Amino acid sequence: MTIRKAVIPAAGMGTRLLPLTKSQPKEMLPVGRKPVIQYILEEVRSAGIEHILIITTQSKRSIEDFLEVNAVSSSEIYYIRQTIKPGLPYGLAYAISLAKGFADNEPFVVCLGDCIIKSGSSDFLLKRMIESHGEHKASATIAFEEVPIEEVSKYGIAKPHITGLEEFQLNDIVEKPRKEDAPSNLAVAARYVFEPEIFSYIKQTQPGLGGELQITDSIRLLLKDNHPVWGVRLREDETRYDIGGFAGYFKAFFDFSASDEEFGEEFRKYVSEQ
Ligand code: G1P
Repeated sequence: MTIRKAVIPAAGMGTRLLPLTKSQPKEMLPVGRKPVIQYILEEVRSAGIEHILIITTQSKRSIEDFLEVNAVSSSEIYYIRQTIKPGLPYGLAYAISLAKGFADNEPFVVCLGDCIIKSGSSDFLLKRMIESHGEHKASATIAFEEVPIEEVSKYGIAKPHITGLEEFQLNDIVEKPRKEDAPSNLAVAARYVFEPEIFSYIKQTQPGLGGELQITDSIRLLLKDNHPVWGVRLREDETRYDIGGFAGYFKAFFDFSASDEEFGEEFRKYVSEQ
């Protein structure tokens, strides 16, 4: 199947990265020699997607400044601003709801702007997700990664229909459960494919964890209405870097710098001598 549109939510405040994010968005932090947002645009473009909507907010203008001169060629990039202010709804589902006009009744992918997925093969995650989505006529297809059970409370967690498969249908999904309540250790890994019906389920979504409109809860409503939702797992040669916190950011900077074509060897030598 072909998907033409991608939505990149980038309105998060970056509080786990303070003070780095006081005056610059986390999506603009350098990882090796490129800012985070550039990796995400390249991933989206590799999947053949040329229409991209970035959801920004206050103090994210440098994303636009950077992409004005460095956009991946032939992409069309649009922006919409999410106003974050007491009294207004917030959360990932709300951010995605702002893309309704852009999606204009077409399926679309969502790539969270603070997460880089590194893949070793041309059969990369987003491409497999789009194929799986078409094949199963899914309403939503979500990327999952196994995480240690102690970490399930940081993620959306799947209840798979059958465990152990690379692609699986979901019975349920729950946002940031306690480890005692987690239905598995399969964590939502920052990439989604949605049919446009997701917008009506976002509309019905009530504030959930942290008072936020959680996209996990909207997906739950889809499942309750018997819409098929599928999961696709990251493969062993794929790595998810969560740039939203220092641990993931340091790992990303290290790995991408160490594999730099020009300076990687020197950098690895330096590190091995420490
Ligand atoms: C969001 C989602 C969560 C998902 C995570 C990583 O959480 O709500 O379900 O597992 O991204 O993709 P956040 O990291 O914004 O707290």
